[in-house]
Amino acid sequence: MESQPIIRVSNLKKYFNEINAVDGISFEVFPGEIFGLLGPNGAGKTTTIKLLLGLLEPDGGEMEVFGWNPERDDVLIKQKIGYVAEEALIFKSLTPKDAFNFIASIRGLDQDYTSKKAREYLESLEAIEYYNQLIGTLSHGNKQKIQIIAAILHEPDLLILDEPLSGLDAKSVKVVKEILELHVQNGGSVLFSTHIMEIAEDLCDRIGIINKGKMVGIGTMEELRKKANKIGASLEDVFLRLTEQDTSVDQIVERLRVSFKKNKVN
Ligand SMILES: Nc1ncnc2c1ncn2[C@@H]1O[C@H](COP(=O)(O)OP(=O)(O)OP(=O)(O)O)[C@@H](O)[C@H]1O
Ligand SMILES: [Mg+2]
Repeated sequence: MESQPIIRVSNLKKYFNEINAVDGISFEVFPGEIFGLLGPNGAGKTTTIKLLLGLLEPDGGEMEVFGWNPERDDVLIKQKIGYVAEEALIFKSLTPKDAFNFIASIRGLDQDYTSKKAREYLESLEAIEYYNQLIGTLSHGNKQKIQIIAAILHEPDLLILDEPLSGLDAKSVKVVKEILELHVQNGGSVLFSTHIMEIAEDLCDRIGIINKGKMVGIGTMEELRKKANKIGASLEDVFLRLTEQDTSVDQIVERLRVSFKKNKVN
């Protein structure tokens, strides 16, 4: 790709006492690209995302977002980013209507245009009936929809989403996927983490697989298959190979089989 990357991360490090949460990670995300971060629980995905947003201070390495330094220029960067956090950060004691109005006012957006757009998104995600209901009383999936809408209302160039599809029903997943695709077709970029292999395989132009704070594979599906020496394999198999979990899964399955058989005999 010839254009300048929107995100550039080089040898990034973050330690929490003796835990090497992010241990020398490097990757780039380009304009018009959907880049997926995959990794087992505790691999370092959320920590990487928080470093990029200036929410955590790195212990080493370099990173740039739109050419700026997240540690210093986080306010500038946040104007151009829509962020969906792993754990919903949003105003539980507001209704979606009030939350969207609040976002419009702090971001200096046109109130009428923004609330019209917010209602359209709510309708697409089948959540318009909750427009005047306290966010704190909504189901997990509906809270997630509000968070996603809140992240895209200011039409950011870059979306950074930490497991955005967790808890969404099938139709809403399809709508959010469509939103992400339209976003990149219009020149935007997406960095998101997920555990859902089918979605990563379906949606991402390139995928970075993180394990124990290190990038163990990066590239297109084809490049990852080559790296894992698994031509024609599913992302799940490639992922388990690159994160060295495939043999342990086989062993666990075998143990479970033996244990089930024993239980039946007894
Ligand atoms: N604030 C913190 N204090 C101490 N340790 C932390 C902190 N935040 C994260 N960690 C540790 O850093 C490691 C990476 O965590 P992180 O949340 O980045 O993983 P993740 O890849 O997002 O996992 P998941 O898929 O479960 O969301 C884990 O071992 C975690 O326990
Ligand atoms: Mg996480």
